[in-house]
Amino acid sequence: MIPFVFILTLSPIISAQCFVADPYNPRNLTHRNCDMITEQPKKNNLNAAIKNDTMFDITLTCNANDTICNKVKIAFDTAAQIISSTFILNSRISLNASFISFCNGVPNCRNAIVLGQAAPSSWILLQDDDNTQRLYPQALVKQFQFPTHPAYTSYDIFAMFNSDIPYWFASDPPIRPDQYDFLYVMLHELIHGLGFGSSWEEYLPGLVTPMPAINPLSSTKFDLYSSDPQANDKVKFYEWAFDKYMIFINGTKTSSLTIQLNKFFSGRSGTQADFDNNFDKSNQYSLARNMYLISQTPNSLAFMPQGSTNPSDSLILETSFRPFRQGSSISHVDAATYMNTSDFLMRAQARNGTTINMLTGNFSYGSGIGPILKKTMETMGYTSLDNPNPYRPSIIDPSTLTSSSNTIKPYRLRLDIGLIITIITTLVLYILPKEMA
Ligand SMILES: *[C@@H]1O[C@H](CO)[C@@H](O)[C@H](O)[C@H]1NC(C)=O
Ligand SMILES: *[C@@H]1O[C@H](CO)[C@@H](O)[C@H](O)[C@H]1NC(C)=O
Ligand SMILES: *[C@@H]1O[C@H](CO)[C@@H](O)[C@H](O)[C@H]1NC(C)=O
Ligand SMILES: *[C@@H]1O[C@H](CO)[C@@H](O)[C@H](O)[C@H]1NC(C)=O
Ligand SMILES: *[C@@H]1O[C@H](CO)[C@@H](O)[C@H](O)[C@H]1NC(C)=O
Ligand SMILES: *[C@@H]1O[C@H](CO)[C@@H](O)[C@H](O)[C@H]1NC(C)=O
Ligand SMILES: *[C@@H]1O[C@H](CO)[C@@H](O)[C@H](O)[C@H]1NC(C)=O
Ligand SMILES: *[C@@H]1O[C@H](CO)[C@@H](O)[C@H](O)[C@H]1NC(C)=O
Ligand SMILES: [Zn+2]
Repeated sequence: MIPFVFILTLSPIISAQCFVADPYNPRNLTHRNCDMITEQPKKNNLNAAIKNDTMFDITLTCNANDTICNKVKIAFDTAAQIISSTFILNSRISLNASFISFCNGVPNCRNAIVLGQAAPSSWILLQDDDNTQRLYPQALVKQFQFPTHPAYTSYDIFAMFNSDIPYWFASDPPIRPDQYDFLYVMLHELIHGLGFGSSWEEYLPGLVTPMPAINPLSSTKFDLYSSDPQANDKVKFYEWAFDKYMIFINGTKTSSLTIQLNKFFSGRSGTQADFDNNFDKSNQYSLARNMYLISQTPNSLAFMPQGSTNPSDSLILETSFRPFRQGSSISHVDAATYMNTSDFLMRAQARNGTTINMLTGNFSYGSGIGPILKKTMETMGYTSLDNPNPYRPSIIDPSTLTSSSNTIKPYRLRLDIGLIITIITTLVLYILPKEMA
């Protein structure tokens, strides 16, 4: 007689490793339930790079006249073409893009300096080969072609472009000093959408940590659909795909600091209240404080591409903003190092009075995506002719989920209004008042 067993087997396996981002605040993730689906893997098409298929689908909301909106569409096609001729995409990438006023006529509005913002709109927690689970952007997860994978959402990337900016488009007369090349901004934002960006950020004032998130299954009584963390939820810091390769300039992986930071939670109740009340008294607090200072010291963080062992081959990240600049610090390349190089694209600050073609024309390397940026994306898992067999993490099989592991739920940040306004501009391309040297 096994009267109760069927009750257990009838309860569905909930796959709890999927998240959607708030389009206006891309670091604010919400759990979504996702079923595992099985599909026939498509062949890795090494010829795609030379075919005229951009593999991008765009849904564009454009609040301008037809003339401008057509130019926006053409720039999108060009950006998609540049990406598709650099990397071999084997699954279509879907973009929800808007070309709208960020200021809506409000004079001196602080968003007047934001050219655009973009980020992955959907994330999936995957198992990496270093015994760590990290959040991967859906656009990249799709490229891995897992035969069985969590169901995807309709959009991979959210992008917004500020129509208040004096943009220059390819068919316009020569660019004026005050104009910004729309293609430059578009390409920069698409690269963020593909996963260029770090989880390390100032989530808590004066501290830099990976994204704090909550494991909803750590409590015996959990409600996956509740928007509020449960009393026994376990907070932890989670990295993104990019962070697997982030190093301090001495070569030490920043993931080793994440391990140190997460030690705060071992042997404790792990409730949000414990975290809120006691983190500032811990050793880990001073580590996070130190990371905040490192993040404001030039040339102190880098991305180490695959196959490299020498930190001098790495991509230097942006750590020269003082104070720390949410959305710009860390998640861009160092402005000074890459100013006059073919890897200028992911600097935090766009350049006026010049076009991506003028900038790339000055370097022998052609497309706007420079060699180190290309290597960075390949290291994260994008295929190219130079990288036909990229690294691939594994799917977390939901049937292996226990009530105390593998799933996370975002930590609800308690931010004051000022911070919310700044954090909204996460992964943005800024105009800064002064060109930096
Ligand atoms: C985060 O997203 C949730 C759900 O979309 C929303 O209710 C909440 O206001 C957002 N919080 C912030 C700080 O943006
Ligand atoms: C490639 O596709 C674009 C639009 O999708 C089209 O305008 C262009 O003519 C095509 N080029 C070739 C060589 O077929
Ligand atoms: C479209 O809008 C632009 C910018 O506001 C303006 O310069 C242009 O004259 C408009 N074109 C048409 C056909 O209305
Ligand atoms: C694209 O995103 C915007 C912002 O969230 C939303 O208002 C719009 O409905 C989305 N478009 C589509 C077609 O889903
Ligand atoms: C960019 O704009 C500033 C003024 O805002 C101007 O001084 C500078 O010359 C412009 N740069 C270029 C390359 O035109
Ligand atoms: C490298 O630098 C980091 C940050 O300053 C430090 O925590 C780490 O101990 C250093 N590693 C070595 C091997 O010196
Ligand atoms: C970059 O090039 C410009 C013009 O060629 C030059 O004025 C500037 O000093 C260079 N900057 C760096 C950091 O090399
Ligand atoms: C490109 O090179 C030319 C000639 O050396 C120089 O005058 C121009 O300023 C450079 N353009 C940019 C955007 O650096
Ligand atoms: Zn950016």
